[in-house]
Amino acid sequence: MDKVAAVDAEALEREALDAIAGAQTPAELDEARVHYLGRKSPLKLALREIRDRETGMRLNALRERLEAALERRRGELERPQEDETFDPTLPGTPIPRGTYHLLTQLRRRIEDVFIGMGYEVYDGREVETVWHNFDALNQPEAHPSRDPADTFYLDEQTLLRTHTSPSQIRAMMEQEPPVYLVSLGRTYRRDALDATHTPVFHQVEGLAVDRDITLADLRGTMELFASTIFGGERKVRMRTSFFPFTEPSVEFDVTCFLCDGAGCPVCKHSGWIEMGGAGEVDPNVLETVGYDPEHWQGFAFGLGIDRIAFLRHGLPDLRLYWENDIRLLSQF
Ligand code: FA5
Repeated sequence: MDKVAAVDAEALEREALDAIAGAQTPAELDEARVHYLGRKSPLKLALREIRDRETGMRLNALRERLEAALERRRGELERPQEDETFDPTLPGTPIPRGTYHLLTQLRRRIEDVFIGMGYEVYDGREVETVWHNFDALNQPEAHPSRDPADTFYLDEQTLLRTHTSPSQIRAMMEQEPPVYLVSLGRTYRRDALDATHTPVFHQVEGLAVDRDITLADLRGTMELFASTIFGGERKVRMRTSFFPFTEPSVEFDVTCFLCDGAGCPVCKHSGWIEMGGAGEVDPNVLETVGYDPEHWQGFAFGLGIDRIAFLRHGLPDLRLYWENDIRLLSQF
């Protein structure tokens, strides 16, 4: 009997398949491969000694079956094992999610309210010329807000804008009336830091220029804005004021969130917190940008976004916005 016949193919196959199926790790599987299909394995030795065609075909078919079984088992071992302790009914581990800063959220909300009223959003500049920030807005040469003690100058002709009102000038010089726009962004003043003042703050500027615009249109717009943003819980009052670029000028106050108008240290015992200024666009400003004041009238307003946020959410101090304490920010 030659060596080929000496290999009991059936027994070998059973034994090899058991070893392959029983391998629990890639290393154990490799051991089985070397043992049953390696160069010195009985099957390989037998294949080398083959004398007749029929035995050759039988042993080659056996080799192919073993190789296929090896591949299958390798695939099974490489597949990630299911964790038997996994319970799909348990709540998942929460993944912390970031949110926009509350001032960014409010800024977008304000934009939406005015877009809903037919206004466009105009992007102004934070670095402005003295002309756009003061002169074109009818600001007298000697006005105290021009003082370097109040304003951040970059050089004699340029500064960090002290309000968003220069956006009015840029927009009107770029387009013909009628104009309905809001312009939101950062503004800078050398103000001492306290609960209601920060040197960098945010304003929303509004401008409407059309035929026959009156102060009643301004009042209606502000009341609609306030009821949308504060949900009808706060009262708004308009009192006379002065700005060189509006005539007549008014200031808008909102009832204090803390004392609801009764008077407390946050509102300096007045019951009201100032939200911003407004008025009818001064004819001198319309002339400066090339609009004929005989044909066009307008109103403008500039409101402090930081103050609106603090009135809306009942936050006691504007400085909280800059501290970036996640315990505060994650509530919005
Ligand atoms: C102005 O800045 C005018 N440009 C507003 C205006 C626009 C009037 C258009 C007429 C027509 P005022 O200086 O009052 O006005 O500032 C407006 C608002 O900005 C204030 O009511 C307040 O809400 C906010 N504000 C001013 N200074 C600060 C500050 N240091 N920190 C936080 N908010 C401030």
